[in-house]
Amino acid sequence: MHRPAPDPSRRMDTLAAHAGDDPFRFMGAAAPPIFETSTFVFQSVADAIAAFANEQEHYVYTRRRNPTVRVVEEKLAAMEGAEECRLFASGMAAISAAILSCVRAGDHVVCVDTAYGPAKAFITGYLSRFGITATLVDGRDPAEWEAAVRPNTRLFYLESPSSGLMKLQDLAAVTAVARRHGIATICDNSYSTMLLQRPLELGVDLVVYSGSKYFGGHSDVLAGAILGPAERVRQIGDAEIPLLGGVIGPFEAWLIGRGLRTLPVRMRQHQLNAAKVAEFLAGHDRVARVHYPGHPSHPQYELALRQMRGASGLLSFELDTRDLEQASRFVDALRVFRLGVSWGGYESLVFLPIIGAMHKAPEANWPSPGLVRIHVGLEDVADLIADLDQALRAL
Ligand SMILES: Cc1ncc(COP(=O)(O)O)c(C=O)c1O
Repeated sequence: MHRPAPDPSRRMDTLAAHAGDDPFRFMGAAAPPIFETSTFVFQSVADAIAAFANEQEHYVYTRRRNPTVRVVEEKLAAMEGAEECRLFASGMAAISAAILSCVRAGDHVVCVDTAYGPAKAFITGYLSRFGITATLVDGRDPAEWEAAVRPNTRLFYLESPSSGLMKLQDLAAVTAVARRHGIATICDNSYSTMLLQRPLELGVDLVVYSGSKYFGGHSDVLAGAILGPAERVRQIGDAEIPLLGGVIGPFEAWLIGRGLRTLPVRMRQHQLNAAKVAEFLAGHDRVARVHYPGHPSHPQYELALRQMRGASGLLSFELDTRDLEQASRFVDALRVFRLGVSWGGYESLVFLPIIGAMHKAPEANWPSPGLVRIHVGLEDVADLIADLDQALRAL
């Protein structure tokens, strides 16, 4: 093996550029080759027996391990400061595998009620088929998590900040409750990435990601990741990955590796642009309220300063109307922001959360029609503000 272990003392931009790479292992290729192979062949029966004896270290079949995927897992682990990483085909593949690795029939899960919809549905709906019960908590007060604990509680599921109203959980305080009761914790860190928040350092057991957001960064790939202690993550590699099979393809992993190299520079620009957009919106007379953890008007701004190193490009705000027709007029008038779900790409996007709720939830649970979510992309911020300004005037 030519590959030196990633040096954790390196700074983030250097880790993003180089961690996990070893060009001389691959004939000096500056970019790692894409090992587009499903299977690996052996020179002898003895070699095959050795490989099968330890599939975590040898290449046998790409559902278990692939060199391109491995390069990217090592880069991510170095960036996160985690012992181990496994990549998945999507954020939901990672999230469902992480949750399943923590629970058995008859267990109880406490989940933040602002968690990403399908993650919440998996915990509260799908798992109920197996006799697993769940309690939803607002999550902002650590005492609520303590109060929700039952003798059979095995997992706290967190997502901070949430991706709709950007609500935070106090990760150090909630994981302290979990540890006292011997309960596992999973945190979805997709909003911040490891650049802006380090859940493992705050006591979280497993960090999960939608890599389809900032890791890829170009809205052209689906991916997910689990990071955490080597033993725990390798157990998932032995149990959930081969059985559930939601693994990433080599090309998709390569796109994630390419995206990660520029994540620090992209994130700095998302932050600068989003801060200016939030300030503009907060001062606009057609905007009732801005939800952005990087803005002093956020009710948990102090906590954000304490546990995060800044806020990313995703924020939401409330128009001074609750009328869907008026909100639609605003959105349809936007020219640079495009209407669509997801976020974390280079481009600015806008979405009305009510669109997603209309066909899924009873009307009483719909968000306000005036609630607008935007992802602030990498375009010139003057163009983004001018676009929002002209569309607010169309209201
Ligand atoms: C916060 C959050 N977590 C997880 C996911 C799921 O990720 P994926 O779409 O990659 O399955 C999403 C997707 O939008 C998300 O917003």
